[in-house]
Amino acid sequence: MTSTEEGRRKYDALADRYEEIYFYVADVGRRLVSFADPPGGARLLDVGAGRGAVARAGLERGCAVTAVDASAGMVSRLAADYPEMVVRQQDAGSLGFADDSFDVVTAGFVVQVLSDPSAALAEFRRVLAPGGMVALSLERQEIGRLGWLYDLNRSFFGSGSGGAPLAADQLDDLLLSAGFVSPTRVMVDIPKHLPDPAALWDWLALQGVPAAVDALPTEQAVAFRERFFRDAEKMHRQGGITLDFAATLHRAATP
Ligand SMILES: C[S@@+](CC[C@H](N)C(=O)[O-])C[C@H]1O[C@@H](n2cnc3c(N)ncnc32)[C@H](O)[C@@H]1O
Repeated sequence: MTSTEEGRRKYDALADRYEEIYFYVADVGRRLVSFADPPGGARLLDVGAGRGAVARAGLERGCAVTAVDASAGMVSRLAADYPEMVVRQQDAGSLGFADDSFDVVTAGFVVQVLSDPSAALAEFRRVLAPGGMVALSLERQEIGRLGWLYDLNRSFFGSGSGGAPLAADQLDDLLLSAGFVSPTRVMVDIPKHLPDPAALWDWLALQGVPAAVDALPTEQAVAFRERFFRDAEKMHRQGGITLDFAATLHRAATP
């Protein structure tokens, strides 16, 4: 297993509003499939498909799409939304498909959340036919002008339990170690402008931040809100509020 029960529960809970919160995934999904450039009719496996950002772009290109995800919540919504896809609940590290079953394997923003990305890449390689292509997207950790918000979260909620995020160079090394050849990557930027501090608060609300703040002792909750609106106002005055999301798209071939 390359995901934990806790991880699956997290994505089950996010499933309803996933693409509303992570507004950039649909755009990145389309770009990832364009980057892989599969011919019509290609057999495409999308791993960690979520609500289908990448898989639906595969359908739009005329691919025969199979989508898997570890989260039951994501899988049931995918199956309902896309009856034309084969949808299965599976772990990226133990795919239930025969060797050489697919021409393209995609995974949008998935390897970064796995406990053992190498095990998943070995599986991607196994199920890909010779001459096949893997295409992955990876979040780029660019805090940019939102550093104040990360600092605010850290000072009230701590730094979280995650280790260092997977870097683009590391991912290319892992692809080579898994037996892929010719890794290539491009960078994409997906800025989103918000009209005012209230819109930033609303976006955080989709992720449950105000609820977590309200669960703090009252003094801390008040202090959090005060600092949030003071610093968000400052950002608004100094050039506007922008969520600066960025990613790298990685592609590599099977020999
Ligand atoms: C960040 S989301 C990305 C979803 C989608 N690919 C996109 O681009 O919008 C990560 C997805 O990977 C799934 N996932 C996490 N661990 C997994 C695993 N071990 N095997 C399969 N899917 C996994 C999650 O349930 C979630 O749907």
